[in-house]
Amino acid sequence: MAERESVGIVLLGLGVVGSGVARALTERAETYADRVGARIELRKVLVRDATRERAFAPARSLITTDPAEALGADCDIVVEVMGGEDPAREYIQESLRRGRWVVTANKELMAKYGPELLAQATAGGADILFEASVGGGMPIVSPLRRDLSANQITSVRAIINGTTNYILTQMSREGAAFGDALRQAQDLGYAEKPDPSRDVEGFDAAYKLAILSSLAFHGHVRVDDVYREGITHLIPRDFRYAAELGYAIKLLAIGRRDSDGIGVRVHPALVPSDELLANVDGVLNAVQVEGDLIGRVLFQGAGAGSMPTTSAIMADVLEASRSIVLGNRPSPWRYTADMAMKTISALTTRYYIRVEVTDRPGVLAGIARAFGDNSVSIASVIQKETDDEAQTAELVIITHAAREADVQRSISQIEGLKGEVRQVGAVLRVED
Ligand code: NAP
Ligand code: HSE
Repeated sequence: MAERESVGIVLLGLGVVGSGVARALTERAETYADRVGARIELRKVLVRDATRERAFAPARSLITTDPAEALGADCDIVVEVMGGEDPAREYIQESLRRGRWVVTANKELMAKYGPELLAQATAGGADILFEASVGGGMPIVSPLRRDLSANQITSVRAIINGTTNYILTQMSREGAAFGDALRQAQDLGYAEKPDPSRDVEGFDAAYKLAILSSLAFHGHVRVDDVYREGITHLIPRDFRYAAELGYAIKLLAIGRRDSDGIGVRVHPALVPSDELLANVDGVLNAVQVEGDLIGRVLFQGAGAGSMPTTSAIMADVLEASRSIVLGNRPSPWRYTADMAMKTISALTTRYYIRVEVTDRPGVLAGIARAFGDNSVSIASVIQKETDDEAQTAELVIITHAAREADVQRSISQIEGLKGEVRQVGAVLRVED
């Protein structure tokens, strides 16, 4: 077999991530050629607007706005960093039909269509690699696919959205209100403007958790299987009360295998302050995996940004290039397990509940009765922030381990105590 001199790349997208990839391919060409044994050549770059100024612009002759020209270019690997569902999915499918390897950072596509894209890659004799789709530059997809694959993974607990972790860190450290912390995140370019809901309502984390759980548990966890709550209802007092009790508040993405099935959920949670995850602050991401052979292992790093995400993309490009140069058969990920998925109502954990009440005799007894009626045992009650003039007080209740369904029934009953209960301000799960 003649030795291969080059591997051709088509880049779909030249934004935050695409510019980093183009820069790395250009400025590190010699290093990558040494590592792969062939030159890695950028052959075409697809954009929407060819006149836009770029953080890094490859030769003008490489740039096109014509998808047919980009997808028809002579290449071995297509790198998709456009984002969104369509037309990215169509372009990836067309590339796989042409037998190209695909590298993508697209969490939405991999979460929704991962199994069918992987099956198509296998049928075409190629692979689709997606390290950058979860955790930006932090390695986690490849460790789950390869390094931890001999384990039965029991749980994945993760902070996988940098924007919300930044907002929660500001609310905790500075006592900032949610809206102010969100504006800071938008000014720094972390949260999208004008609609930040993909991050703050937990959609982004849910896509990433669906991908991680599918890899960890070897079956297809669908985005719709993931229970999801955002962080918009939290107030600075929740962080103060949590800290007094020895906890931090984090938006956790949790996948857990129990004897009766797999539960997947994204929601804010109280995490003991001395745990590693409680101390992952700012835009950092972290994933803690527990396996029967390895025990606990923690990955932490930059979950977004041009160069960290380029690091993940280029690792996949180099892996694909080596396989192509050596003529190795690809080994795409396979979803093999039958999965019994559990709903959130089956969860058993402890709860933090903040209730604003009228400060008068008998109110606490009514609340305690609602929990008792539903088999929820109270571990502690602290009365906070009494306002004598308005005759209001705030109760912070911690329960013993209780079933989610029972807690939700208790909350409905408490909300029905009109005149006594002004509102149930927060119901947060405690992840001890
Ligand atoms: P971005 O800055 O918005 O860049 C998107 C690029 O794709 C732009 O160059 C745009 O062209 C091009 N594009 C979009 N739709 C197109 C279409 N229909 N036809 C042709 N070109 C099109 O996005 P990004 O932040 O780089 O993110 C790209 C992907 O990486 C997304 O899937 C994202 O979730 C993922 N990701 C991003 C980060 C991060 O830190 N940004 C981290 C991890 C993963 P124009 O420039 O001409 O408009
Ligand atoms: N919006 C994501 C985050 C980065 O805040 O973590 C891209 O995955």
